[in-house]
Amino acid sequence: MDKICINGGKELQGQVTVSGAKNACLALMPLTILASEPIKMTNVPRLSDINTMKQLLISLGSIIREDLFKGSLHLHTPKISSHDAAYDIVRKMRASILVLGPLLAREGRARVSLPGGCAIGARPVDLHLFGLEKLGATLDLKDGYIRARASSRLRGNTIEFPFISVGATENLIMAATLAKGTTVLKNSAKEPEIIDLCNCINSMGGKIEGMGSSEIVIEGVDNLKGTQHEVLGDRIEMGTFMLAPAMAGGQVIVKGCPPTYLTAFTRKLSETGISVETGENEITVTRKNDTLKPINVVTEPFPGFPTDLQAQMMALTCLAKGKSTLEEKIFENRFMHAPELIRMGARIEVQGGIASVTGVDSMKGAPVMATDLRASVSLILAGLASKGETVVSRVYHLDRGYENIERKLATCGAQIERVV
Ligand code: EPZ
Repeated sequence: MDKICINGGKELQGQVTVSGAKNACLALMPLTILASEPIKMTNVPRLSDINTMKQLLISLGSIIREDLFKGSLHLHTPKISSHDAAYDIVRKMRASILVLGPLLAREGRARVSLPGGCAIGARPVDLHLFGLEKLGATLDLKDGYIRARASSRLRGNTIEFPFISVGATENLIMAATLAKGTTVLKNSAKEPEIIDLCNCINSMGGKIEGMGSSEIVIEGVDNLKGTQHEVLGDRIEMGTFMLAPAMAGGQVIVKGCPPTYLTAFTRKLSETGISVETGENEITVTRKNDTLKPINVVTEPFPGFPTDLQAQMMALTCLAKGKSTLEEKIFENRFMHAPELIRMGARIEVQGGIASVTGVDSMKGAPVMATDLRASVSLILAGLASKGETVVSRVYHLDRGYENIERKLATCGAQIERVV
């Protein structure tokens, strides 16, 4: 199993361009089920989660060609050859549930394995099922699978989500796109990846308004045509790379995603005293040998502080002068990076959904273990700031969401390498 070794304590200088957003791509790829014409996607990140989604779509009948060098995917599903999303693929990646809405909309039936939980929580899909029933689907659970049927074409309806869910919003948008009549989604998620999905659907002939707000209106159409779409830059990767100079010192320009998609994070980072300058499509982060101020973070749905940057920000607070708190309000078990950071000398106490971090002057390199995607990258960031060697094992977690991270950091002067 690959490991990543870091010799920390080196200041960083340079610039990094983020890849296409994993969480945009995983919602865009199932659109090939909704259209019988081809879709070309560009700025596609090379990640294991994208490969898993490709594997799943191919098992349903999609023909997928990729130009790895250019980071483009050509997806074409002239017909659906299977309606089964098998457990052995779905268990690898929860986003597989996003084929359920499209399959129901195009074929009127689907059998999708329940995704099961993952390291950060139980992650049920009850909201997805609640919404699809509102559109006229009949669902039952048997042998760990969701069996879904729609005796006729899905029918538009008004759906008010009891709480915000990114995935449920995305599934219902795709299902409603081919439904008969109009669907209104209330208390929808507002993430930029949802705006990207809706823009792509509209380029295929869909009729969606209100994306980015809490009320999305989808007017059903009879069919969608093909399109070409460039995947949005990854705002979580951007925030992650902004923390590299914040931790290790120096200056890094991070490019590839509109800074407006990161305002809550950028505001919090500035509160620590780090210099953050936003440009058109880039953000410059500079840290001299100034003292970091402690901060209090609460994760919230967009446009609040993103849960996907909580682990990374915790790594920074380990070096602040004073006590910081991080309250995780989206997932029930997203502090698994804490024990590993403690092994590097951090002082962290976790009580329920709140982590209290008392800053230390420095951390020390150590062998540590990745437990989930964002926890693994927080350990890399801590390694950049720690004297001595840090060896991160189980980096397959990292490869789910970060493309060539060690190469990108090495171009900024980090002493980091992957050991196979
Ligand atoms: C998406 O997950 C992202 N994944 C996650 O990124 C991200 O952390 C999350 O949104 C929140 O922003 C992708 O886009 C592929 P939710 P999703 O539905 O859609 C509960 C990463 O690191 N819930 O908004 O699964 C759920 O358990 C990943 O890139 C239900 O109870 O998140 C969670 O506590 C991690 N029932 C909360 O809602 C449901 O039917 C928010 O989940 C659905 C969700």
